[in-house]
Amino acid sequence: KGKNIPKERTIDQTFALLAEGYNYLPNRTYRENSNIVQTRLLGQKIICISGEEAARAFYDEGRFIRKTAIPKRIQKALFGEHGVQVLDDEEHKHRKGMFMSIMTHESLERLEKITKREWRAAAGNWTKEEEIVLLEEAKVTLCRIACEWAGVPLYEDETRERARQLFDLVDSIGGVGPRYQRGRKARKQTEKWVADLIRQVRDGRLSPAEDTALSIIANHVQLDGELLEPDVAAVEVINIIRPTVAIAYFIVFGALALHEHPSVRERLREEDGTYSKMVVQEIRRYYPFAPMLGARVRADFLWEGYAFKKGTLVLLDLYGTNHHPDLWEKPDEFNPDRFKNWKKSPFDFIPQGGGDYDKGHRCAGEWATVKVMQVFMELLAKELEYEVCDQDLSYSMVRIPTYPESGFRMRVLNLKP
Ligand code: HEM
Repeated sequence: KGKNIPKERTIDQTFALLAEGYNYLPNRTYRENSNIVQTRLLGQKIICISGEEAARAFYDEGRFIRKTAIPKRIQKALFGEHGVQVLDDEEHKHRKGMFMSIMTHESLERLEKITKREWRAAAGNWTKEEEIVLLEEAKVTLCRIACEWAGVPLYEDETRERARQLFDLVDSIGGVGPRYQRGRKARKQTEKWVADLIRQVRDGRLSPAEDTALSIIANHVQLDGELLEPDVAAVEVINIIRPTVAIAYFIVFGALALHEHPSVRERLREEDGTYSKMVVQEIRRYYPFAPMLGARVRADFLWEGYAFKKGTLVLLDLYGTNHHPDLWEKPDEFNPDRFKNWKKSPFDFIPQGGGDYDKGHRCAGEWATVKVMQVFMELLAKELEYEVCDQDLSYSMVRIPTYPESGFRMRVLNLKP
């Protein structure tokens, strides 16, 4: 029997979660001055944990499984069913190996080239517009980048529609009602589209380059010697192109960061890639995106004297860990320089999960995300002359995921050659 875990006394906290959003978990751990609190959400007992040691425990495979941790409603919109997110043990490692084989040095260089070309092409068009909404432009440009990189054919006249669908999958996460329903609909539309591409690759009607996600996933052989079902292969290809489009959220926050911190913009103009990397890290730390992750206790264990019972759902606070006062000095200040002395723990800076890429569930696309953001931040600071339109740039801490509602309206005056 372990120590007492601080508890929420109310019967069910689901409304509180909806009302407090990103701050729900931090509000409770700070109030209790404890990295562990117990609550009830959607009718079940849940243990919430926060901080570096909590992340280390959460990514200890012997302690947790994912199989039954992700609610069906999230699988039916955001993730799809039977994808890498709900696998454990050997099956997970084998599938994760498939994803990591897409992230080679050569493949990331190809991504960088495509990204540079597409951002500049897009920016050239922005100079011809009275003003643009960056969020909308980022979705469409990232959709082009994602599909070309992944070997997914994309016709010009379907680009906007596909970009919207891939974005809607992500935007549905914390949605109830119409926002969630848009995600459900986008799930059906994108899976039908991509499952058909998988069939085309398999019967030779479509030949994507060998190192693309589409080719690798269509030809991936499972541990039982079989190819993935076309629907599951589609889920996994979408696990590449959907989050690439989702970088749009960070792009908008990146533009906001430069607007609010002109000195960061100045330094980006003058300094090399080391600084833009720190800026990108700080954008991913500071601004809210993925709020928390869930896993279930595999078998009873004690952590820091607290008892975790088999089957209990445990939530790891990603946003709260990235703002944890024990880990970050003045966590609520935007300061890229803090990454100069960062000790590179795999468990303290976890906007895209923590731990090990190959053995655990940490985001397969983290390096790709950093690359794409670095290219964009350098374009913004060094190559674009623009004015930010008058608008309300505040963003909700309750909506998940969040962004400034105006989408960041700007007037682009010039693109330097
Ligand atoms: C997993 C966040 C971009 C592919 C994850 C996880 C998070 C995350 C929180 C879960 C980690 C876990 O379960 O322990 C993000 C954010 C992104 C992003 C905030 C920024 C837009 C990308 C990109 C790709 C990608 C660009 C692919 C090109 C994946 C895959 C997984 C994953 C395949 C599943 C890994 C597994 O279950 O083993 N991501 N991600 N993500 N991400 Fe990302």
